[in-house]
Amino acid sequence: MSHQCSCIAGGTFLQCCGKEIADWDAYRFLLCLGNEASRPFHGRWARHRDLVKRLVDQAAGGIRWERCLVLGAGNCNDIPLDHLADAFTEVTLFDLDESALAAAAARLSPRQRAGLRLLAGDLTGLHASGTAEAIARLARRGRWPELVQYLGKLRKKIRSLPPPELDHGYDLVVSVCVATQLFVPFIRAVAADSPLWDRIHAHAADISRALSNRLGEHMHRSVEPEGAVAFATDILEWNAARLGLAGRVAPLALDSEAIDPAAVDELLRGHSHLKNVGAVPENLAGLFTPVHAVDWIWAFSDWKQYVVRGFVLHPR
Ligand SMILES: C[S@@+](CC[C@H](N)C(=O)[O-])C[C@H]1O[C@@H](n2cnc3c(N)ncnc32)[C@H](O)[C@@H]1O
Repeated sequence: MSHQCSCIAGGTFLQCCGKEIADWDAYRFLLCLGNEASRPFHGRWARHRDLVKRLVDQAAGGIRWERCLVLGAGNCNDIPLDHLADAFTEVTLFDLDESALAAAAARLSPRQRAGLRLLAGDLTGLHASGTAEAIARLARRGRWPELVQYLGKLRKKIRSLPPPELDHGYDLVVSVCVATQLFVPFIRAVAADSPLWDRIHAHAADISRALSNRLGEHMHRSVEPEGAVAFATDILEWNAARLGLAGRVAPLALDSEAIDPAAVDELLRGHSHLKNVGAVPENLAGLFTPVHAVDWIWAFSDWKQYVVRGFVLHPR
């Protein structure tokens, strides 16, 4: 399987855009590249952002509007940031990519910026602990059997990775399309051209599920007992390359704001290869009273679309 760098100039990430990047910074740098590429999409994602705003309003009904935390805020192209800044006394944006957070903040008025806090940090601990560095080093040298072994061990010790430094007591926590981005894009970028990709991918799927569960725990720990979480997640992806396989997915792409969840579930049953691993943390129902609010289509780009599933979560 060949895997091109996301800039599509050719070669894999480590031979292309990541060539000059130190191994210790490869994980953060890859996220920055993705955010840089989607930074101009603020206008394109207006409808998606509006649907996130409706989810936020649904989650925020009946809670105190003082402190809000956005996890994986990035450019805030999919976050109704001006709405949050107007409504909450304090809004904290958390992401590993500081430049994306700064770009998001720059769109606000000085009054809206007054209560804004930008917090750079790692939701997974992969960057902070040097784990991603070790993975990048093995991949860059093509030491694939060692990488398989390393990932096999990592999947059993996700809980020992350092947690992000996050406060408690937020009235509203928002997370939009982050759960699927914690590991799969990175491992694909550094290792998808490996002859051992199938084994790497099997471990990566387990690691992604474990990291997604940790995200569930972070959301639960950060939110006030009387607060709420607006959690939206890209459960299914299809893109130009996969479209031929997608069969009945394509009709859903027609402008559909609130699509029938039963149709999505049916689709997932028949097209499991389109399912995004780790999209919905498995511990969600244990930690929260989850209300599955709405599903919608996110037209990410001309060649990529997602079904996004929105939940309103109340901590148990
Ligand atoms: C698909 S984007 C979400 C879109 C983003 N809200 C926006 O509008 O630009 C996923 C976001 O999660 C962030 N992210 C991924 N892994 C992270 C990690 N380990 N720690 C902190 N942020 C992370 C990325 O930097 C990116 O901004």
